[in-house]
Amino acid sequence: MEKLVIHGGAKLYGEVEISGAKNAAVAILPAALMVSKGKSVIENIPAIDDVHCLERIIESIGGKIEKNGSTYSIDATDELKVVADTEDVRKMRASYYLVGALLGRYKSAKVELPGGCAIGVRPMDQHIKGFEALGAKVTMEHGSITAKADKLIGANIFFDVVSVGSTINVMLAATLAEGQTVLENVAREPHVVDVANFLNTMGADIKGAGTDVIRINGVKELHGCNYSVIPDQIEAGTYMIATAACGGRVTIKNIIPKHMESISAKLEEMGVQVEELDDSLIITSEPSQLKAVNIKTLPYPGFPTDVQQPMSVLMSIAKGRSIINESIWESRFKHMDELKKMGASVLVEGRTAILEGVPKLSGATVRATDLRAGAAMVIAGLIAEGKTEIYDIEHIYRGYPDIEDKFKNLGADIRIEQY
Ligand code: EPZ
Repeated sequence: MEKLVIHGGAKLYGEVEISGAKNAAVAILPAALMVSKGKSVIENIPAIDDVHCLERIIESIGGKIEKNGSTYSIDATDELKVVADTEDVRKMRASYYLVGALLGRYKSAKVELPGGCAIGVRPMDQHIKGFEALGAKVTMEHGSITAKADKLIGANIFFDVVSVGSTINVMLAATLAEGQTVLENVAREPHVVDVANFLNTMGADIKGAGTDVIRINGVKELHGCNYSVIPDQIEAGTYMIATAACGGRVTIKNIIPKHMESISAKLEEMGVQVEELDDSLIITSEPSQLKAVNIKTLPYPGFPTDVQQPMSVLMSIAKGRSIINESIWESRFKHMDELKKMGASVLVEGRTAILEGVPKLSGATVRATDLRAGAAMVIAGLIAEGKTEIYDIEHIYRGYPDIEDKFKNLGADIRIEQY
């Protein structure tokens, strides 16, 4: 087993290269299975455990993958199995994209119900509502979701909640449906747009991704293409916040600054300097000057829930009282108990956390309770006085490529140890 050991206190200087977006890649790889002609060559796939897990799942149903660094070539021209039921399928949330992809291509899919981070109840009613509106019969039995249709026919679907997963999943199925589908009240996250762009490059006809209405004219088949995944907004946000918390000056490279606006604006409000270049941001910070702020997590372009946990660490050392309102996931404060062990002053009441800024955190033995909680613990360790040991770090490697090397290159004292 592995743990992360950090000696805090170093300021961060230099450059960090951001990898491809996890939440785009985990949808784009299943989408590549919808191609019946030619190979899809996809660049900038992040080297994370969620992607490795998905690779095994794709191979288990008959997809072929060739890898060259971060470039994946996917060949799904041979007939695929429409049943995905391995242990890997149950492990990761994004397995649900196999339903949309296989239902679109084969009008039939059976997928074991997915797992993922324990951050709150994770219903699929909106996915099901969308598939049913397209004409599928959907059942949930014995821990599996089954969707079947004689044919899929375009429909008008108004989602009850703004959901990334259901927007992408229904978009996948509707791409190969007959006629036009109009999806309303959809998620506008950069990864939703990226998946739509990928599908369009393969011959789909999708308009409006990035707004709250997506129009899809169904096509008969998709063909192979070359594509590059967008940079990871959440990984970038994590390094921006880490720099703000540790102090120093770091260039966050290979990003789309527009995607970072809600985070940049909050950091500036706290007194952090954010300079915007074409495809990078330079963060300069003096932690003793940080001021308290309030955040409410919201769908894009609001403040992302996936950055809330790292951000809470920064708030824990900012002068004054900061308040977090977590509007997306009801159990995304599990890391607060770990943060308290390090000296943070936090009161959690339902979906609200109140943090009274303390001058410093102190090293402790803590756990990564989920993926972004793990990133939060890393930042806490980097700013704490003394030694921090983080256990259960497998969660972190689900979503952060080379995290210890990336921080080491910026001057942090962080290493992996076996135990
Ligand atoms: C995606 O999860 C991301 N995961 C999550 O990132 C992210 O936190 C979330 O979107 C919100 O941005 C992937 O992309 C693989 P949702 P998803 O459907 O699609 C409710 C990370 O840290 N809802 O947008 O599962 C739901 O309960 C992970 O990288 C329904 O009510 O989230 C939640 O309150 C963790 N019915 C809200 O919508 C449904 O059918 C948003 O969920 C679906 C969702």
